[in-house]
Amino acid sequence: MSDMQKDQQIKEQIESLRKALHEHNYRYYVLADPVISDYEFDMKMRELEELERIYPAYSDPNSPTQRVGGAVTRQFPTFKHLRPMLSLSNAYSEQELLDFDRRIRKVLDDEFHYTADLKFDGVAISLHYEQGRLVRGVTRGDGVQGDEITTNLRTIPSVPLMLQGDDYPDSFEVRGEVVMPVSGFVRLNQQRQESGEAPFANPRNAAAGTLKLQDSKTVAQRPLDLYIYQILGDTLPGNTLSQNLQLASKWGFQVLPHRAYARSIQGVLAFIDEWADKRHSLPFQTDGVVVKVDEIEAHSELGNTAKAPRWAIAYKFQAEQAVTMLRDVEFQVGRTGAITPVAMLEPVELAGTTVKRASLHNADIIAALDLHIGDGVFVEKGGDIIPKITGVDISQQTLFREKVIFPSVCPACESTLIRQEGEAQHYCTNELCPPRVKGAIQHFISRRAMDIRSLGEGKVEMLYDAGIIRNVADLFALTPDQLLGLEKMVVSSESGAARKISLREKSVKNILAGIEKSKSVPFERVVYALGIRHVGETVAKLLAKHFQSMEVLIKATHEELVAIPEVGDRIAESVTGWFQEPENIKILDDLKAAGLQFAIEKGQHQKVSDALSELTFVVSGVFEGVSRDELKHFIEQHGGKVVSGVTGQLNYLVAGENMGPSKREKADRLGVPIITVNDLYDMTEQGRGGDD
Ligand code: IVH
Repeated sequence: MSDMQKDQQIKEQIESLRKALHEHNYRYYVLADPVISDYEFDMKMRELEELERIYPAYSDPNSPTQRVGGAVTRQFPTFKHLRPMLSLSNAYSEQELLDFDRRIRKVLDDEFHYTADLKFDGVAISLHYEQGRLVRGVTRGDGVQGDEITTNLRTIPSVPLMLQGDDYPDSFEVRGEVVMPVSGFVRLNQQRQESGEAPFANPRNAAAGTLKLQDSKTVAQRPLDLYIYQILGDTLPGNTLSQNLQLASKWGFQVLPHRAYARSIQGVLAFIDEWADKRHSLPFQTDGVVVKVDEIEAHSELGNTAKAPRWAIAYKFQAEQAVTMLRDVEFQVGRTGAITPVAMLEPVELAGTTVKRASLHNADIIAALDLHIGDGVFVEKGGDIIPKITGVDISQQTLFREKVIFPSVCPACESTLIRQEGEAQHYCTNELCPPRVKGAIQHFISRRAMDIRSLGEGKVEMLYDAGIIRNVADLFALTPDQLLGLEKMVVSSESGAARKISLREKSVKNILAGIEKSKSVPFERVVYALGIRHVGETVAKLLAKHFQSMEVLIKATHEELVAIPEVGDRIAESVTGWFQEPENIKILDDLKAAGLQFAIEKGQHQKVSDALSELTFVVSGVFEGVSRDELKHFIEQHGGKVVSGVTGQLNYLVAGENMGPSKREKADRLGVPIITVNDLYDMTEQGRGGDD
């Protein structure tokens, strides 16, 4: 074969892999109907990565391998929209919708239809496609021009990079909304709080904040999703909004199937009624319904106002609100020392749940509300997941009320509080403040850190209160005698009844075994467990990989830290600051002496699951698309053990093509099940982690 023929063959191989991966990605994320296993997908992806590495001439920003991000943008270029991105007029009542309908009927002579769909509460974006390939993605900006954030948008699994089928226009624009599903938002905020970062107020802010990030790798790790609601172009296949959307869903775009299609506004009202409650069951937040005239020809007849089209209107659902009584305000101290005021409320029903507590965020909000104990307060679940107090019902105010005052000292240890310039939060300055220390220990034992679940939050509290532990290293010096008979009074929050719990022999054994087991937790999780501010799981992994051992990490300078692409000044300062504290170095010395993993293990396997734990396998023969070594690695990643000989103790023989006949005979004779590689994949049943 000539070099040219060979080149051509490689190019075709790369293109065919890309096409297949785009399609599998679409089936997985948009249709939720995958046809290959996650493992097979990963293997194809690896093959493509390898080919792109060897043949960089064939690299392509729209390759499925580029979803993981990597490019860092210093400043996003501005792009002038091809057609202005208008906003929408709002309607808050049925009457306002009837008025909208009347205005339209005055202009349009011909028969028309309404199409109505849910209003996504996210970030509006515009995507440009040429010959079926994504060429550009732009934020709404001021409606005339926006930021070009293509590198960030490429990382979102439901943004098609290459379209399916062949009946799309050569050049067109898609408008839609990037949202963060509620489950992903809650998880992200948990992670942020664990690493001492400020949580996002609501999913919309989280999505907007993420799309602005300069590091596309971080964007790739955030759970974002795209839903589209409009196609624009000079040559569109359909005459109506809904026809074009339906076609677009075949090209690979995610379109929400719930919509109204009606000749009269009454049909739209029924749809709104239906979704007023049902919307809470969707995976993302929606704050209304957008009502549109479906026939595109009618749009130019109706025209636009300066800001919004006259052929569409957004009906806004009412924010769910309730009035209740403020019983008390608690000032809680978090692991990082942040003081969070929490309103204790007379329980009240709101949007399907009973609300007893609401966030008050910070001192400014308390002052602005002029809160008093006993006040009637409005509680809302708007865009925020956590209910918040939006106002005081002054009609219910009583005389001689006790004003809520933000404390000037820490409510737990009475140390001075500080508030950094530009920050809304007050912080306790005392490193040894009990709730901070307890929080740090609780973080240390948490599942994703040292995973000492036998201990648990309650027991940490008991041990701390009894004066037995003062830091995380003390856990490793615990003796059975210290633990036995340890007691605590617990008061049930429901009934108010108090009962005593004490540790018995069995749980003492469990705790000590859990602590012992944690000594084999890999180094990267030890780094995460330390609870250094701004060092979440991802950063901990980076640090562990980069510095390889605690010894080297302790000495890392600011310059060395910021040289890692994902690490900025804020993280670097926090890390060097932590290692400068003599207290912390003392704890590290004790942890090292206790035998924790203080360095990356050579050839460390990343454990994926325990699906195959305590099972033994023999892998024999050749397999399509995967080598024997890869399969062995796969089994080990899922906790299984690979052995070489078939014995009566063997659990499974994984058989490929051309397996030696003697192995098969022996397995048959000893009653060892012979399975295919697909059976093996099925046994692990592990998700590709679509939203993780
Ligand atoms: S149709 C303006 N449908 O909400 C042209 N817009 O607050 C017609 N939005 O600018 C847009 N969900 O970016 C349409 N289902 C939906 C939508 C939607 C969210 C956005 C849109 C608009 C903004 C106005």
